[in-house]
Amino acid sequence: MTSFKRHTVTAALPYANGGLHIGHIAGCYLPADIYVRYLRLKGRDVVFICGSDEHGVPITIRARKENSTPQEIVDKYHSLMKRTFEEFGIAFSIYSRTSSPVHHKTASDFFLKLYDKGVFTESVTEQYYDEKVGQFLADRYITGTCPNCGNPNAYGDQCERCGTSLSPLDLKDPVSALSGEKPVLRATKNWFLPLDKLQPQIEAYINSHPDWKPNVFGQCKSWLNQGLQPRAMTRDLDWGVKVPLPDAEGKVLYVWFDAPIGYISATKELTKDWEKYWKDKETRLVHFIGKDNIVFHCIIFPGMLMSEGEYILPDNVPANEFLNLEGEKISTSRNWAVWVHEYLEEFPGKQDVLRYVLCANAPETKDNDFTWKDFQTRNNSELVAILGNFVHRTNILTKKYFDGKVPAALEYEKSDLFLMEELSRYPKKIADAIETFHFREALAELMNLARMGNKYLADNEPWKAFATNPKRVQTVLNISLQICANLSVLMRPFMPFTSDKLCHLLNIAPLNWDAAGKTDMLHEGHQLGEPTMLFEKIEDEPIQKQIDKLRQLSVISNQSSVNPQKPTITFEDFEKMDIRVGTIVAAEKVKGADKLLKLTVNTGIDVRTVVSGIAKYHSPEDIVGKQVSLLVNLAPRKLKGIESQGMILMAENADGKLIFVAPTDSNAENGSIVK
Ligand code: 2FM
Ligand code: ZN
Repeated sequence: MTSFKRHTVTAALPYANGGLHIGHIAGCYLPADIYVRYLRLKGRDVVFICGSDEHGVPITIRARKENSTPQEIVDKYHSLMKRTFEEFGIAFSIYSRTSSPVHHKTASDFFLKLYDKGVFTESVTEQYYDEKVGQFLADRYITGTCPNCGNPNAYGDQCERCGTSLSPLDLKDPVSALSGEKPVLRATKNWFLPLDKLQPQIEAYINSHPDWKPNVFGQCKSWLNQGLQPRAMTRDLDWGVKVPLPDAEGKVLYVWFDAPIGYISATKELTKDWEKYWKDKETRLVHFIGKDNIVFHCIIFPGMLMSEGEYILPDNVPANEFLNLEGEKISTSRNWAVWVHEYLEEFPGKQDVLRYVLCANAPETKDNDFTWKDFQTRNNSELVAILGNFVHRTNILTKKYFDGKVPAALEYEKSDLFLMEELSRYPKKIADAIETFHFREALAELMNLARMGNKYLADNEPWKAFATNPKRVQTVLNISLQICANLSVLMRPFMPFTSDKLCHLLNIAPLNWDAAGKTDMLHEGHQLGEPTMLFEKIEDEPIQKQIDKLRQLSVISNQSSVNPQKPTITFEDFEKMDIRVGTIVAAEKVKGADKLLKLTVNTGIDVRTVVSGIAKYHSPEDIVGKQVSLLVNLAPRKLKGIESQGMILMAENADGKLIFVAPTDSNAENGSIVK
């Protein structure tokens, strides 16, 4: 990295079809911001590029949902996201938007250049068309059954249950999301990027980057192993950048063609000098994204850039995995999300707490979970108890004993020298971790430095030593204050607001990275500011409020997809059912019926046979030994020639999967009555 003269850092352009939730932030904006803030502190030449992705089907779908126009939708959400980023401290050099005239021209010219070079292949293909609405159906406008996992709600470009990337023609039983009708196939001409022909070049490019994160490198290899296919770079749609060709009426550029070019357009908007950030080999191009964007940034966009010929290629694409929320996938449609603009209102001044928690728990190598309880614990036991406590004690003691002026370090003891030696290593330790995109590790090191400070105070007990040895206290507090000054620099990429507060408290201007590691950052006699707390404890109440809000909102937005309540019954009706706890003691497949399993169940009353339609979701070997709830007085009936004597209770989740309704308490005994 040091060999590069400058950096172009991008963060995925978010679709302007909603707000920003913590998954977006943890996925790419926070790591990108930490990286850029670090580079800036190192005095590096860096541009940090982002903007709203305002084209594509997600926008038009949102417009339909809100009974609005795509333009109104992007205007509304562009300003919301721009403001949220600013208030949350994501310090882009520019936050632009793909509806800007500069972008339309840049994307259009890029397309024309490839067209003039003869890069595209033209091909007439059959695409789904909704005759009722009179429109070709883009990927997201078609749903159907996934050929891979049977999910009946897969989209035309991807199955969200099994993650397979699909094309609309792969779906079984396709349905138009616009009218609910079965679409028909109609011929249409489009322009394709021949990724198959580019494969050797792309393969050589990927192979030259074994340093990429394993999740990114692995996904690229798997795409390459499957063999790249030509991909249409135009779409039959009326929202987007118009295809700049005479015979392309009613067509726009594919959103994944125009969006990454948005990085270039935004740089153009930022500076006249934009070319050096995109065309000079001494520039390092780094794309921060979430894992669902890997193929577009590592294969398709590089394929476009190579075909154009003048541009540098991404040098790294540090994609994160996904962040879950309270054990479940974040879902905007179910409102299972923490919206950052709401957080900013409900926790004013606490940007850094969320930044800290999202970084400490970032999904860098695997999906991770955000919980409100963890948020509270990390605030109270880490930020308040370790970092805040150290800084506060140091300041209070300095005020008490030395009138808030930095005392001189008089004589260093062995333990002081040891600590100073340790301290001098932190800037590099943290920098190395940041430069290799290990942000969690970098943050953990920062906290270790605060821990070291706390231990130093505890070992030297200046509050006791002052009575007998005030000179020693001068040295101890001098060193402790130097640690505070170091913290103000080293925390800055992660917690910029707190760094400002700490600088204010120390009465210093923010320092650059290379000033850290030393113990002469504050001079003898320097007057500190007034001691204030860096962080405050978060009580149970606001946390419980957040948990309740999440559950309530998700229930409300879920109601439309949940079956309505059945007619009321009396208690006597309920009493007629005899439901018992039982254990499955044997299970086997039923010949000639791929949905059925023959189960032998110990009901506590007897051992009996039950035939259950769960074979698609559970394999026999996985469920033997499992405790279940069983309706034992259901009239027996024959299924595939086997008499079934009861029914296992199952719940059907949103994907149609059947899961056991079983006792979770291990004390449940077979034969216990469920009531
Ligand atoms: O997945 C998304 O949210 C896309 N809007 C990301 C686009 S990144 C880039 F290419 F602009
Ligand atoms: Zn699937």
